[in-house]
Amino acid sequence: MSSPWSWYVILGTIASLIACFWLVAYANRQRASESEIKESESHVWDENIRELNNPLPMWWLWLFIGTVLWSVFYLIYYPGMGNFDGLSGWSQEQQYADEVAAAEAQYGPMFAAFGAMEVTALVDDPAALGIGQSLYQNYCSQCHGSTAQGARGFPNLTDDEWLYGGSPAQIEHSIMLGRAGVMPPLAGVFPTEEALDEMVRYVQEMPDGMNTESPAHQQYMTLCIACHGPTGAGLQALGAPSLVDNVYLYGSSAAETRISIAAGRAGEMPAFGDLIGSDRARILAAYVYSLSQ
Ligand code: HEC
Ligand code: HEC
Repeated sequence: MSSPWSWYVILGTIASLIACFWLVAYANRQRASESEIKESESHVWDENIRELNNPLPMWWLWLFIGTVLWSVFYLIYYPGMGNFDGLSGWSQEQQYADEVAAAEAQYGPMFAAFGAMEVTALVDDPAALGIGQSLYQNYCSQCHGSTAQGARGFPNLTDDEWLYGGSPAQIEHSIMLGRAGVMPPLAGVFPTEEALDEMVRYVQEMPDGMNTESPAHQQYMTLCIACHGPTGAGLQALGAPSLVDNVYLYGSSAAETRISIAAGRAGEMPAFGDLIGSDRARILAAYVYSLSQ
């Protein structure tokens, strides 16, 4: 907060506290005078309820004064007055950092012990897999689903088909460094809409065998082969999916296939290394690895 705004807040707060005191003092001084009592005869409701300007009850008054005094001490002790930090030195950031440090001190050694083990050993350790599962629910389930079966655009982690590879090292790489799949938009390379439709049909039929008779076959062999491979099996180094299995990232329909080819795709797996560290990534890799075994 810049210092004029800080002063604005400080002065505004002090002014309202003074106003509170003044209000109490003022209200307390008001007593019903003789003439008022007389006049109040005309202010009688429901036969016997008389409207008067009576002093506030003492308990209420002290409660009010108490809360105002409390706020004065509070605002001196804790941050609250503009940029003034308060005498206690307490801050949200510090409290958060302390809690993180406490959790790290409590769980860090356990994570480090698991982090030093191989993924293939961790998959036989129920405690490690239990922790892996809760880490998974925390960090991964919003995209890959609570059962890790994925969704449109988010790969299934429980099957045997991998974009980038299902070895422990490849899974760990996916988690630590993230992945970015790049399917280039290729609408421009098809001279006519019919040629594009032909390619869509060709790709849809690929799981049943490559149709070498199709006019699209020649195009596949020049345009797509570099990434999806000569047999259509894909290429894990690029994350190019197999087009010959029945597993689809974006769907098997003509419409989705058409979008993939014409407009391209750019699936992104965020890098988690900085957020969770290598020990937790190792435990997560073991959990993910165990799902497909
Ligand atoms: C530069 C490499 C590259 C080239 C060239 C390329 N692709 Fe792809 N393709 C990819 C990648 C990577 C993905 C996955 C995109 C993602 O992860 O979001 C993909 C995804 C697809 C998909 C979606 C698959 C699914 O499971 O939903 C289809 C269909 C597809 N490509 C067809 C083609 C066709 C047909 C050609 C040639 C006309 C082609 N690709 C050329 C890299 C490529
Ligand atoms: C913001 C969404 C998102 C989150 C969160 C996320 N992922 Fe992913 N993940 C993706 C996408 C999208 C891909 C596919 C990337 C592509 O299309 O190239 C992917 C790919 C992967 C792959 C590679 C799969 C393969 O077939 O090779 C693994 C392994 C993986 N994620 C594990 C995880 C784990 C473990 C977590 C939790 C730490 C996680 N993901 C969190 C979106 C996410």
